[in-house]
Amino acid sequence: MIRSVVRGIGSALPRRIMTNADFEGIVDTSDEWIVQRTGIRQRHIAGEDETTASLGEAAARAALGNAGLTVDDIDLILVATSTPNNTFPATAVDIQNRLGMRHGFAFDMQAVCSGFVYAITTADLYIRGGLAKRVLVIGAETFSRILDWTDRSTCVLFGDGAGALVLEASEGEGTIADRGILASSLRSDGAHKDKLYVDGGPGTSGKVGHLRMEGREVFKHAVGMITDVIEAAYAGAGVTSDDIDWFVPHQANKRIIDASAKKLGIAEEKVVTTVHLHGNTSAASVPLALSVAVADGRIKKGDLVLLEAMGGGFTWGAVILRW
Ligand code: ACO
Repeated sequence: MIRSVVRGIGSALPRRIMTNADFEGIVDTSDEWIVQRTGIRQRHIAGEDETTASLGEAAARAALGNAGLTVDDIDLILVATSTPNNTFPATAVDIQNRLGMRHGFAFDMQAVCSGFVYAITTADLYIRGGLAKRVLVIGAETFSRILDWTDRSTCVLFGDGAGALVLEASEGEGTIADRGILASSLRSDGAHKDKLYVDGGPGTSGKVGHLRMEGREVFKHAVGMITDVIEAAYAGAGVTSDDIDWFVPHQANKRIIDASAKKLGIAEEKVVTTVHLHGNTSAASVPLALSVAVADGRIKKGDLVLLEAMGGGFTWGAVILRW
């Protein structure tokens, strides 16, 4: 059977690093509060010349280089983002143009922090359905541009960045020993849409708006939702927590990551955590964390990797793949 195998990975971060101490003159907060509640120590913030599309392009170029491919080899570009350069066209076609790709097709996916998990699942379906052989899946965000920089309860939590994977069709045996995506599980429930949202948009205010969040409410639901969808993905793949080599969760909050790993029975040393370096980069957080763990040699070919994310909507999902 056809499997969607990871052939290359890349990432890109804005030049500017903003530490927790840098917030102390902006809002009433402290390094101690931020570290204790979230685990975040720093985040990258886009400069004037850095956009979702430019960061996505840089991550895509790095992933293509890592795969030993060029854009000529790509059929589809999928960009997971909630902070597109423009309302339209899609940031994916902007990136397609920046890469000099004149064939194939490209579109954006919007599932907030779950965007990358949704996009990689969609890419897998395009590959297995025969509509694409190689897909560039990009998670790219500039959340700094939709933050209310006077709201201490949200502005300290987010950062900017991008990560990308090249997924490629490959013949597998149809067993869990295959490389590639083995199972996915996606969920959403719009009843929670007012707990984490942006208070504007082209169809309402005509303005971009700012991120608003009931942090405590999000926290309350997070661990339960995350573990439910992971159990569903385990059932789909026929694996358990014991089989997982690396857990790469959405990087929103260290306390949520730790509580989820504990509930699932995944050992601390198998959890990839980058929230201290990047903050919450929404759809970019999972591919950025993957990039770090691949670059430092933790994730190796053949390892069983569990991805998970939860975000505004709520949306949530999990993917199990063999690297
Ligand atoms: N510095 C200092 N104090 C602060 C700050 C800050 N940056 N932010 C809030 N506080 C204060 C509050 O005003 C409150 O003060 P009060 O008691 O006098 O009213 C106090 O700290 C406690 O506030 P809580 O909101 O109850 O703090 P909590 O422990 O819940 O931590 C946090 C807040 C970190 C936001 C937590 O709720 C959380 O992580 N929630 C989940 C958020 C999340 O994961 N979001 C991403 C989802 S993914 C996506 O789609 C974007």
